[in-house]
Amino acid sequence: MKSLAIPLLVYATPVFAAAGDGDWASAYSKATAALAKLSNSQKVGLATGVGWQKGGCVGNIAAISSIGFPELCLQDGPLGVRYAQQVTAFPAGITTGSTWDTGLMYSRGNALGTESKALGVHVQLGPVGGPLGKIPVAGRNWEGFSNDPYLSGMAMANTVAGMQAAGVQACAKHYIGNEQELNRGSMSANIADRTNHELYLWPFAEAVRANVTSVMCSYNKVNSSYACENEALLTGLLKDELDFQGYVVSDWAAQHTTTGSANAGMDMAMPGDNFGDNNFLWGQNLLNAVSSGSVSQARLDNMATRILAGWYFLGQDQGYPTQTGWTSWNGGGGGPNVQGDHKTVARAIARDGIVLLKNENNALPLNKPASLALIGQDAIVNPSGPNACTDRGCDTGTLAMGWGSGTCQFPYLTAPYDAIKSKAATDGTTVTLSNTDSTSAGASAAGAAATAIVFINSDSGEGYITVEGAAGDRLNLNPWHSGNALVTAVANVNKKTIVVIHSVGPLILETILALDNVVAVVWAGIPGQESGNGLVDVIYGSTSPSGKLPYTIAKQQSDYGTAIASGDDNYSEGLYIDYRNFDHANIEPRYEFGFGLSYTTFSYSNLVTGSITSPGSGSSAPGGVSNLWDVVATVTATVTNNGTVAAAEVAQLYIGLPSSAPASPPKQLRGFDKLSLEAGAGGTVRFPLRAKDLSYWNSAAGAWVMPTGTFNIYVGSSSRDIRLTGSLST
Ligand SMILES: *[C@@H]1O[C@H](CO)[C@@H](O)[C@H](O)[C@H]1NC(C)=O
Ligand SMILES: *[C@@H]1O[C@H](CO)[C@@H](O)[C@H](O)[C@H]1NC(C)=O
Ligand SMILES: *[C@@H]1O[C@H](CO)[C@@H](O)[C@H](O)[C@H]1NC(C)=O
Ligand SMILES: *[C@@H]1O[C@H](CO)[C@@H](O)[C@H](O)[C@H]1NC(C)=O
Repeated sequence: MKSLAIPLLVYATPVFAAAGDGDWASAYSKATAALAKLSNSQKVGLATGVGWQKGGCVGNIAAISSIGFPELCLQDGPLGVRYAQQVTAFPAGITTGSTWDTGLMYSRGNALGTESKALGVHVQLGPVGGPLGKIPVAGRNWEGFSNDPYLSGMAMANTVAGMQAAGVQACAKHYIGNEQELNRGSMSANIADRTNHELYLWPFAEAVRANVTSVMCSYNKVNSSYACENEALLTGLLKDELDFQGYVVSDWAAQHTTTGSANAGMDMAMPGDNFGDNNFLWGQNLLNAVSSGSVSQARLDNMATRILAGWYFLGQDQGYPTQTGWTSWNGGGGGPNVQGDHKTVARAIARDGIVLLKNENNALPLNKPASLALIGQDAIVNPSGPNACTDRGCDTGTLAMGWGSGTCQFPYLTAPYDAIKSKAATDGTTVTLSNTDSTSAGASAAGAAATAIVFINSDSGEGYITVEGAAGDRLNLNPWHSGNALVTAVANVNKKTIVVIHSVGPLILETILALDNVVAVVWAGIPGQESGNGLVDVIYGSTSPSGKLPYTIAKQQSDYGTAIASGDDNYSEGLYIDYRNFDHANIEPRYEFGFGLSYTTFSYSNLVTGSITSPGSGSSAPGGVSNLWDVVATVTATVTNNGTVAAAEVAQLYIGLPSSAPASPPKQLRGFDKLSLEAGAGGTVRFPLRAKDLSYWNSAAGAWVMPTGTFNIYVGSSSRDIRLTGSLST
């Protein structure tokens, strides 16, 4: 395998380091040497989980002492180490995505990996590249980063790199087409080849290129065959085309057969049995299948080799910590406190992920208001404690993570009320709290205050828990707990009403925006333990807001053009999801993809597009043919902070493919660069474009093709606030 030239600017982070200090070739030679010492029964043991709740983690592989292989621990999840205590509860993927900050993505991944390693976790089950989020109400979208594949892909690559540099194996999940919770274990995602390559596979390709050591196959079917039994997906796309060197692990009990999964390319069965029924599809059954020849010896050897190679690639054979003092099943206490200073990065993301949607007459930042009314249950911590609901399966108190297996225990949760109260005390501001969603109580608190802040939310999660009637997927895009009525009641009595929203995804805001007294709307995402502190940083102006929407906010739900499927889903919208659909169908969004206000203004100038050079010759390498990643053009522009306060701007580059390409979305994100600028200062934003960024997937050729002709280049502050246009030609 050829070693790749990394276009560092694509990752644009001062802390970027290669994922692990190993390399695949030496990992494979160690794995091959170890394999030679193993019996078939031991090889099967490497591939088969010990059974649900039979080890300390959510998934375990038995130790093989003769080769120094420890009991391997696989543990959720994407925003923190599940079940353990004294861990950091980071902002969710979606709020990390809304920072558009590759450095923070990397730092969060690195902090997550550091905590996992210190707790003896070998494989951390994240990050999430699927669901991508094509359906706005889908339950688990908040675990991922964005429904744009390029933004999601950059977040995947930087998260994997950060986690694996800390020493833990990352697991890119859920592969693929798990775009809803309803019927996830039976429905089929029928995805056309080009759609799959240009949207759903893209973030996984980035993770593979970042040397992710494991990929989790999902619960659903793809083209009528279960994802964990689908040879075209696991062997064809992932292992052959993307040259994935690691192993495929099943989602928990997503395996359906002994030989079908083995022959399709699955490598590790988790948790081994079907959630504690002691019925192992692999184990002795796989051993028998190899004996009878229905699974080849080569396939078994390949499974075991891949699993060992992932372990060696991260150097986990050298002095890796073992899980001590805590288990997933004893309340998670007794382990080491692994939080270090990670609350700093958690707060930075909670802060920089905030998107300011509306701000009339500089209502924000707050400037020592005489009195402040804080209204809504979302202002406070759940009165029963932040961890009162199992896997956070309730929407009580402020929303700082969704529900399901992608959650962790809060070490603490700083709610908006806690943080604002402290700040207000230093300002001499009188604070009144109405900590329920009662409209009459809210109005009576708001009537007397100079400024009112109303807190509303919208929650979702994984389908094994139903919260307020939502079995994972949301029922609609309205705020929960009659949030529109609460805001209306407050705005009716207070001329300076500010709305703060914690939400797993887009909401329809028309009712709220129609109220004249709503002067500001703050989109605070799913912020994790530092919720209130990140919010105070922004609403009091110590930091200017710099987040941008990682999805579109529509005027009505039907504008998205996608919905939860009641049976199979044919993905008939094709390439036209989110802003690609709004642009294509000429639908005016309320707030477009990439939108977000600042306390300053920026001017854009001096677009330099340069020219396209030919990529070098390619060879097979993790992520796909190596020359797809060659930078073939670099676009630059100048961004100037022409306002009065320091702030960061996310400059975005969208391309329009030449007319010689088959019908394609009018604009597609292919670069972004976040720049911090003092008032009056300017700087250069750079967008390195890789060959893949300027290509479409040609199914007939089975290849990425860079079309000839003229590419439109759009550079701006959002997908619709385009400040500079130019072109590039082949
Ligand atoms: C992936 O691993 C190879 C070694 O096999 C290394 O050369 C390369 O830099 C790594 N890629 C990234 C993106 O870390
Ligand atoms: C699924 O079927 C579609 C339509 O035939 C095809 O384009 C695509 O390549 C198939 N995907 C896989 C993974 O087999
Ligand atoms: C999906 O496509 C198949 C084959 O064309 C068709 O039979 C089926 O009705 C479609 N399903 C939906 C939900 O549109
Ligand atoms: C800053 O630049 C923007 C965009 O060019 C422009 O609309 C605005 O008037 C400028 N502001 C000042 C204070 O010059």
